[in-house]
Amino acid sequence: MQDQLNALKLEVEQAVAAAKDAAELENIEIRYLGRKGELTGLLKGLAGVSAEDRPKIGALANQIKVQCEGLIAAKRSGLEDAALSNLAETEREDVTEPGVRPPEGHLHLMTKAINEITETFEKIGFVRTRYPEVDWDYYAFESLNMPPDHPARDEWETFFMDAPVSEMGKMVLTPHTSNSQVRELERGEFPVRMINIAKCYRRQSDATHVPMFHQFEGLYVDKNVSITHLRGVLDYFAKSFFGADRKTRLRPFHFRFTEPSFEIDISCGVCGGSGIGADKQKCKICKRGWLELGGAGMVHPNVLKAAKVDPKKYSGFAFGWGVERTYLMKEGMQIDDLRALYKNDLRFLKQF
Ligand code: PHE
Repeated sequence: MQDQLNALKLEVEQAVAAAKDAAELENIEIRYLGRKGELTGLLKGLAGVSAEDRPKIGALANQIKVQCEGLIAAKRSGLEDAALSNLAETEREDVTEPGVRPPEGHLHLMTKAINEITETFEKIGFVRTRYPEVDWDYYAFESLNMPPDHPARDEWETFFMDAPVSEMGKMVLTPHTSNSQVRELERGEFPVRMINIAKCYRRQSDATHVPMFHQFEGLYVDKNVSITHLRGVLDYFAKSFFGADRKTRLRPFHFRFTEPSFEIDISCGVCGGSGIGADKQKCKICKRGWLELGGAGMVHPNVLKAAKVDPKKYSGFAFGWGVERTYLMKEGMQIDDLRALYKNDLRFLKQF
């Protein structure tokens, strides 16, 4: 038995010396020293050894086991050291090799438009504000001179929230940015020079309408503000946003919250306002020389009163229109379907 044990030790020594990696070592360990391994098998023969020799053989077996384990452990750490010192070779990096560029995005078309509109108005002293995009009926309609059940409200195809009603009425998804007017005036700081850009919602979806869109709302209230100031600001905006050769015109219109009210047109950039294209036919973009931008007017006294501002002391103007439409007009872009802006199709968005 003693010989068998010594032979086993010799075998382990040779196998360990020949092992090339950790996996091989593991196999050696299992094969010779494991629970069902060769050493355990040999020790079963201990029963046949004389009682006198048994302790000696037992001690030898144990000694051989410890020696073999030591051999394996030493070889294992030797292999690890070798792997580490090889690292410099196997994982060498060429720091001069050109890297892989991470994909680079850019701002969404509408974010760019909002930034640009903000900057344009900031240059003449307007301040960008933020007001709720889910607001009380009171701010969206009633304070704007549109009492409950007034038919003018129908123009704003409104989403109502399924939420508790307060003394300010129901909650709505703001159908226009004009909800900011009374909220801003209520702050009671004059002059008011606000540009409010926000999301608006209306129940409409087709090629030229999206149910979620953006508007910007300008409000200027101070002493002695007149239509001339309104014209000046609109002209300034048209020229800096669209180009120095563009003109604006006011067409009489009706809004409940402004009096008088106007729709603002801008001269067409393609036909120069003549309505006649290069081919001597009607201009394909505007058909009549002008493009419609949005609404405006002098703030209605009832709106000032709703905000506890004295209409005998203060006057002002307001204007508001859609960011999407305005931006597309600026770029002279003919987008067949406005909904493409919000479909997140990168093939479309990457073009801008
Ligand atoms: N809120 C109006 C709309 O959504 C536009 C407007 C704003 C008109 C301010 C007059 C003054 O159509």
